[in-house]
Amino acid sequence: MKNKETIGEILKSDKELLRNLKLDIDQSGEEREVKKFNEVIGFCEQVLRIAEAYPRKKELVFLDCSCGKSYLSFALNYIFSKRLTVETFFYGVDTNQILIEKCEQIRESLGFRNMQFIAGRIIDVQPEKPVDMVVALHACDIATDETIAKGIKLGAKYIIVVPCCENQIRGRLKTGHPLVDLTDFGLLRYRFADILTEALRSQFLTGAGYHVKLTEVTSPKFTPKNLMIIARRKKENKKYSMDKYKKLDKMFNAEFVLKNYFDECELDRSNYLSLANS
Ligand SMILES: C[S@@+](CC[C@H](N)C(=O)[O-])C[C@H]1O[C@@H](n2cnc3c(N)ncnc32)[C@H](O)[C@@H]1O
Repeated sequence: MKNKETIGEILKSDKELLRNLKLDIDQSGEEREVKKFNEVIGFCEQVLRIAEAYPRKKELVFLDCSCGKSYLSFALNYIFSKRLTVETFFYGVDTNQILIEKCEQIRESLGFRNMQFIAGRIIDVQPEKPVDMVVALHACDIATDETIAKGIKLGAKYIIVVPCCENQIRGRLKTGHPLVDLTDFGLLRYRFADILTEALRSQFLTGAGYHVKLTEVTSPKFTPKNLMIIARRKKENKKYSMDKYKKLDKMFNAEFVLKNYFDECELDRSNYLSLANS
């Protein structure tokens, strides 16, 4: 990749790619497209930063959860194959059959052979190849939690999500927790639900043996939903604990959905990495 070239410039240089993705923002200037384009650029930047540490000879396998039209996977595939010549494979999963068919058409017209799109729920998908990175851009509500659970179960080295709406927790914040005087106010309840949800997800990942970093995927001027969780799997021989997650969940009477994807005995294990491939 030429040093000064930004990811935005790389993507903009291929009009066929942008036409296929309907992301030709210089042409249309549409607000929705500008927003999506900037989210995708920010996500790609983080992934590329991580991928630099990967051995070049190894194929890098992605699982794009709630892929929708797979803007993210197509953009990453383009950059990896055309500019970095890194071998990759992309699985995309979405419950929307029509979108999956659309992805297949785009894949064909762009000539990418290293992609497979699957219609179904994230939690049910069983990729044939071992997955290195599980990614999700704006997977609706609990689809982000399915993504995290799937990533842990697959033993993915990285789980990277930019969550969407946080409805499950918002509904539980009206009563029965120590900060009710704060969440009496609709807007504050809305914002606090976002913070609590992302804290619960982050603590769950930490308890499952991942190092967690929170960052912004793009400027808030493009989207208020710009928080990104980057989780990196730690060494397998260490002991990890869900205590912080459980304490936080109990404090806010959250009954957070993420634990539902695991058996109670799995949650009580001291080394959650043994969940991998279960
Ligand atoms: C807001 S769209 C985001 C799509 C895409 N990632 C993007 O950035 O454009 C959310 C997508 O999640 C899909 N979805 C919701 N729940 C799902 C689940 N449990 N498993 C798979 N896909 C799901 C929907 O069909 C929809 O395409």
